Amino acid sequence: MKDFLHNLDKSAVLTIIGIILLFSGAVIVTLICPSYIDPTWTRPTSSYQVQMYEISDPNLYIGSSQTGTTDLQFVYHLKEDFTLLAFRESYQVRIVAPEALQGYVTHLDDPKIKLTSRLLMLRQPVGKLAEAASELRVKLQSEWEKEKSEKGIKPNFDILELYEPGGREAFAVAPVDGAIEDWVDRNYIILDDSMKQPYHANEGVIYIHNPKEYRVSRFRFGDGEGWRYDPRGVKITSLDELKSHRLGFKSRAELIRTGEHLFAIEGCWYCHTDQTRTLVQDVVLNGSAEYAAPPSSSSEYIYQHITFPGTRRIGPDLSRVGIKRPSRDWHKGHFWSPKTASLGSIMPAFRHIFDFDPRGTSGPNSGLPNPKFEALYQYLMTKGTRITPPTQAWWLGKDPVNTTQLIEGPR
Ligand code: HEC
Repeated sequence: MKDFLHNLDKSAVLTIIGIILLFSGAVIVTLICPSYIDPTWTRPTSSYQVQMYEISDPNLYIGSSQTGTTDLQFVYHLKEDFTLLAFRESYQVRIVAPEALQGYVTHLDDPKIKLTSRLLMLRQPVGKLAEAASELRVKLQSEWEKEKSEKGIKPNFDILELYEPGGREAFAVAPVDGAIEDWVDRNYIILDDSMKQPYHANEGVIYIHNPKEYRVSRFRFGDGEGWRYDPRGVKITSLDELKSHRLGFKSRAELIRTGEHLFAIEGCWYCHTDQTRTLVQDVVLNGSAEYAAPPSSSSEYIYQHITFPGTRRIGPDLSRVGIKRPSRDWHKGHFWSPKTASLGSIMPAFRHIFDFDPRGTSGPNSGLPNPKFEALYQYLMTKGTRITPPTQAWWLGKDPVNTTQLIEGPR
């Protein structure tokens, strides 16, 4: 070796060293530097984004009743110290609680939401609290009658009991729109700060609103047997049970991943892109004249296995469609028959993502969405909803009429 180097010309040695330096320089520049120059290339831009991807999605499970009805069920997997819960009263929903849990209730007209990391839940009142609840119902009813007796409608007061189910995990139902959970970035107090989840300490925490225990019961319907949510039924105790063949729940994260693959398999990318460019036509079409849509940034794609950027738009770009078209019903109608949503659409109908697929000329003119539909829908709902702190994204969403008019002309 020594001889070999000795015999080499000095300039040859320098050339070899130069090549090695250049090569390692190139590796550093392409692989390591980007995360220092712009961390959003490799990391989520905001803690909100991290929450949406890593925390909220795996916690939410979606399933449909096997009775053939269209209603979906959303179930949360709650974990003590990891989940923030809020118990908020509204005009119609009132909460009774034992002395020790009184402080966890956010009463009507209380502007500050009380959040807790303790595992508490709501149920139909039992025992002593059942009496308190029925007294409260009578009181509310008579108050209401005194105030608004001239209007014929009767309010349906829902009175629930706050209780501690005991245990470190639980499955709960709570009202959700299926796309995004509740969030707050002001006016809240976290009562128990023993949380193991660091993101909850930041601005804009995600919390679950008024969870009730998830119990199911079986029932017969014609020839078939089904199951449904029933507050007096059997408690679901494990994730395996929830995801079993019988109940068939899938996490939202799983559905989104399936949706991404369906998007590729079905060839949606042939006509649609997933990229808001910095061009005026993109930021206006995906937002509106007043609220331009934020152009796509690399960090939006970090959790995707397949990405669909591009410049060729036969159909509209879909990178902000979760804000632009949040309605599940709209997508149902549109996939079943794109022409009903916009006249002259060249988008093919995707009837095989509905249970009933006649594939013929005559047949019923509606179908029930199947898990493929749900996967595509949940995937579409991630588009544009995870890019900024929610306030800004919601702002855009508040202007859908204007957005639609810009694209389709005034109605
Ligand atoms: C042959 C081209 C074509 C294919 C393939 C196609 N689309 Fe479309 N799509 C369009 C066109 C054109 C429009 C605009 C007219 C309309 O609303 O139907 C559209 C509209 C849409 C919209 C509404 C967007 C908006 O901003 O209003 C969504 C969502 C959508 N398509 C999703 C999909 C998905 C998901 C797939 C794959 C399963 C798909 N499309 C396949 C052409 C296509």
